[in-house]
Amino acid sequence: MLSEVLSLLSNYPHAKILDGTLGLGGYSEAILEAFPGSEVLGIDRDNEAVKFSRERLKVYGSRFTAMLQNFGRLSEIPGIDGYDAYVFDLGVSNMQLALPERGFSFNADGPLDMRMNPDDDSCPTAAEILNNSDAETLTEIFRLYGEERYARKIASAIKRHPPITRTSELVDLIRETLPQPVQRKMGTHPARRVFQALRIYVNNETGELEALLKSLREVSAMREAVILFVSYHSLEDRLIKRAFREWQGEGIGKVLTRHPMTPSPEETERNYKARSAKLRAFFTSRD
Ligand SMILES: C[S@@+](CC[C@H](N)C(=O)[O-])C[C@H]1O[C@@H](n2cnc3c(N)ncnc32)[C@H](O)[C@@H]1O
Repeated sequence: MLSEVLSLLSNYPHAKILDGTLGLGGYSEAILEAFPGSEVLGIDRDNEAVKFSRERLKVYGSRFTAMLQNFGRLSEIPGIDGYDAYVFDLGVSNMQLALPERGFSFNADGPLDMRMNPDDDSCPTAAEILNNSDAETLTEIFRLYGEERYARKIASAIKRHPPITRTSELVDLIRETLPQPVQRKMGTHPARRVFQALRIYVNNETGELEALLKSLREVSAMREAVILFVSYHSLEDRLIKRAFREWQGEGIGKVLTRHPMTPSPEETERNYKARSAKLRAFFTSRD
């Protein structure tokens, strides 16, 4: 959705931009290139992403800064109310998926970790969640965050199994549990939904998004700014849509996207993950 993000940004002041989900720095780089007068602060809760993008974008000198920070704690960033645009591209990065040792991918064997910030000892790993939660809790997690129809069946199978510590063990168990005809009709990897659910739960992704929306409401009530969200999950999209509507109702600005923007067929063709992307935008102003 990068070209849609850039075209929305081009209609508004774009001197200081916060990239709230830096990842590999793709959005930050495109913004720095498209708007030569801009400065970007990129934040991510994943230190690997911060280090990688800091190095990759050092050619932009003082126009680009990278910082390790969770967007749920946005209000702790000095000068955070002084930005013209706040951009968020939610979810998991290609780097996180590509490194088997991070445990995000059902396509490669690795420890079942899935923490976006592995240095955060207060955050349980996916293996700890699987092995320490009861079947009821797991069923709820798989249903709510993965929309997995076979949530109960998979949760019961996990509880009958000795502790699971590797991604490949979980994939094998799901393959053994789901009936073959169901797997053939799924049109996607049989473990995709369970992996997505665990990742969202481990990282408290909806909780962090709620905290972020609260901070943005306060920040945006103070100045004109554009706020952009690309999300990939209906739960997240609902939270964003509801917050934007409330802000508009409170008179602090207007929703720029009555209906969410979605990727072009070409982008969906190129990038499987993009198929579920939704872009919503809000402009804060008091007129
Ligand atoms: C889809 S990727 C962003 C990709 C980026 N737009 C690019 O072009 O490379 C999402 C990133 O958001 C980060 N992230 C997810 N939740 C976060 C949070 N609560 N605070 C900060 N970063 C977060 C992830 O670690 C990941 O690197």
